[in-house]
Amino acid sequence: MNDISDLRTQVLAQVAAADDPDALETVRLTALGKKGAISLRLRELGRMSPEERQTVGPALNALKSEIDAALRARREALEDAALEARLQGEWLDVTLPPRPRPRGTIHPVSQVMDELTAIFADIGFSVAEGPQIESDWHNFDALNIAPEHPARQEHDTFFMHRAPGDNRPPHVLRTHTSPVQIRAMQAQGAPLRVIAPGRVYRMDMDQTHAPMFHQVEGLAIDRDITMAQLKWTLEEFCRAFFEVDAVELRFRASHFPFTEPSAEVDIRCSWQDGQLKIGEGDDWMEILGSGMVHPHVLRAGGIDPERWQGFAFGMGIDRIAMLKYGIPDLRAFFESDLRWLRHYGFAALDLPDLPAGLSR
Ligand code: PHE
Repeated sequence: MNDISDLRTQVLAQVAAADDPDALETVRLTALGKKGAISLRLRELGRMSPEERQTVGPALNALKSEIDAALRARREALEDAALEARLQGEWLDVTLPPRPRPRGTIHPVSQVMDELTAIFADIGFSVAEGPQIESDWHNFDALNIAPEHPARQEHDTFFMHRAPGDNRPPHVLRTHTSPVQIRAMQAQGAPLRVIAPGRVYRMDMDQTHAPMFHQVEGLAIDRDITMAQLKWTLEEFCRAFFEVDAVELRFRASHFPFTEPSAEVDIRCSWQDGQLKIGEGDDWMEILGSGMVHPHVLRAGGIDPERWQGFAFGMGIDRIAMLKYGIPDLRAFFESDLRWLRHYGFAALDLPDLPAGLSR
């Protein structure tokens, strides 16, 4: 009987010490399994005297029930503890404010493209597109820039590769958005009113020049287009874009092979303590090139210059973005510095529209 009470102490201690379901199962097998301590002793009952059997039998059966109950209680306790631990881990305070996430912003160049698209849409211009890898013909010849014309050199062109032995002129990274004039004329014919914002490339790099930058081209073709309409369109654009009541533009006679006559356009401005003010002051800032579309260019676009005429302009988007938003260094535009983007960027869901205000 001492033996049974030792066994009881030992097994109950093992049950209490088991701290996961696997350990508990091992305890169960060593006590109650087929070859377990209790089972072996129950089997020995047969070899005992009837008197012995009378006391040992009930004692073993009682111990078996007790161990059984202890195992069940321990299993439940372990399951409760596991559930408790899980609930602790999955606890969520729904009243906490959400964790701040890194927020994306709209790049000033994209913002300005959206703004000028909205302004020109309002006066009847749609958006046209062309490839950034452009044929030599679209980028130069069709725009009245002959192969020996000095303007080809001035454009600091990036040329694409041709296979050795292929003597056709190489494609180029477009040096301006003007080839989209040709593509739009060919695709839509006259009359025509389009703008073409996009990337352009020139081999140039300093504080005010990047090898990739952005322009917007404008083209209007109709029966009786005049330089006065060009002037009105540009003034209307600048007033809306810079969000001022009045702007003053200065047209300076200039030369582009694809326009005749040609004019470069400056906007009146002032610098005070490093702050630029548009619309007043004694300074002028050049913002674009423009003119009346050259007859050769109309013809290259498949439009009869005897019946149609038009104006065109090309404006640097990065430049007007810097002017409007007071951004001092062009190179920062293309560095993808998140701190810069957070400072100069725009909220993603505030699309510019004229009635609500362009830049909120
Ligand atoms: N393509 C010219 C440039 O890149 C700008 C321009 C466009 C001038 C259209 C006149 C007319 O400098």
